[in-house]
Amino acid sequence: MVERLPSSWRCALAVPFFAQSTTFAELWPDIERRVDDVIRHGKYSHGAAVAELESALAAYTGARHVIGVNSGTDALVIALRAAGLRPGDEVVVPAFSFIASASSVVLAGGRPVFADIEPDGYGIDPSSAAAAVTPATRFVMPVHLFSQLADLSGVLAVAAEHGLTVIEDSAEAIGMRWDGTHAGLVGLAGVLSFFPTKTLGAIGDAGAVITDDPEVAGTAAALRHHGRFGRTLDNFPGISHATEVSGMNSKMDDIQAAVLLAKLARLEEDIKRRAVLAEAYSARLAEIPGVFLLPTVAPRPVPTSDVWYVYVIEVSRRDELVRYLADRDIGTETYYPVPMHVQPCFADLGYAPGAFPVAERACGRTLALPLYPDLDLDDVDEVCDAIATFYTGRPA
Ligand SMILES: Cc1ncc(COP(=O)(O)O)c(C=O)c1O
Repeated sequence: MVERLPSSWRCALAVPFFAQSTTFAELWPDIERRVDDVIRHGKYSHGAAVAELESALAAYTGARHVIGVNSGTDALVIALRAAGLRPGDEVVVPAFSFIASASSVVLAGGRPVFADIEPDGYGIDPSSAAAAVTPATRFVMPVHLFSQLADLSGVLAVAAEHGLTVIEDSAEAIGMRWDGTHAGLVGLAGVLSFFPTKTLGAIGDAGAVITDDPEVAGTAAALRHHGRFGRTLDNFPGISHATEVSGMNSKMDDIQAAVLLAKLARLEEDIKRRAVLAEAYSARLAEIPGVFLLPTVAPRPVPTSDVWYVYVIEVSRRDELVRYLADRDIGTETYYPVPMHVQPCFADLGYAPGAFPVAERACGRTLALPLYPDLDLDDVDEVCDAIATFYTGRPA
């Protein structure tokens, strides 16, 4: 199997946006052993591998509680519900993020209200978040986007002033720490996404709620499993299928947990590799006209450790560049082309274009370049040369 993986799984593109055939070839003995174990033991959902992963993630993040679920989106819905969101409660969300940051609020029964982002770093702008607060607002959701943490000190100050609960969308932020505390644990609860392209990616959908709060953890664990808290009912003695609230079926499957356990063992190494590649991009792209902005890390009042989940630049003629790179077999992604407040699914919230200028400008300019442990420095050179040639007619 090990020998067959690289050749049969290799992507046809010269530099694909994401690939992991080498990673899988290297980790295959451990993955094979773990998957074999799951198949032999016959509990494929919510089983021993999921429990082992939850413990390993608790050790890695420092979270008291990790609740494995079947996506980062479900983790957000469950975290909001477990934190006590009531129907109609407002949650302040940045206007520039992956759609699930806001759709999770609707799915949990709440109402997203949007705020603009900081000009450097893509985190929610605390002053815009404060301006969005109304008497119905009960939560604020900072999103740690791309490769750095949102301004948690600013968000915590807004939350304290307005009595809001902080739920962090830390779906992209595994490995990031705010003054030593893992992303997602600064507020009441956070989430992790293990979507395949994430820094720690599964081979399908998976996610987790992380929290230090035992009550939130207990409710989240019940909500992922149909709302069962494992209690008995007086009129059904001895039977523990009491369902107190309507929950979800969002259990994590054990094959995903088996793969994630194997990859978790190499996570720190992968994070270092990502940093080397990101540095190489920044060095090569520094002086190219048309590249407006390389990833920046906004100054924070506490030490932070940021992780290169993706490498996002801001460029002129973005969509033309995407097509130019695609013609040269270089994969890119546009994260995120449509500001959330003008997404059709939120039309009833009544926002107009122009409401959040920083978010809207980012939507028109941002471009994610390939960044993953399988990438090598020659690939980075190829991407940078293609970008330089697009803007100047010469390689970088
Ligand atoms: C910022 C953000 N929030 C939420 C999610 C949702 O995670 P998932 O795709 O696992 O549902 C993602 C990942 O795609 C994300 O990047």
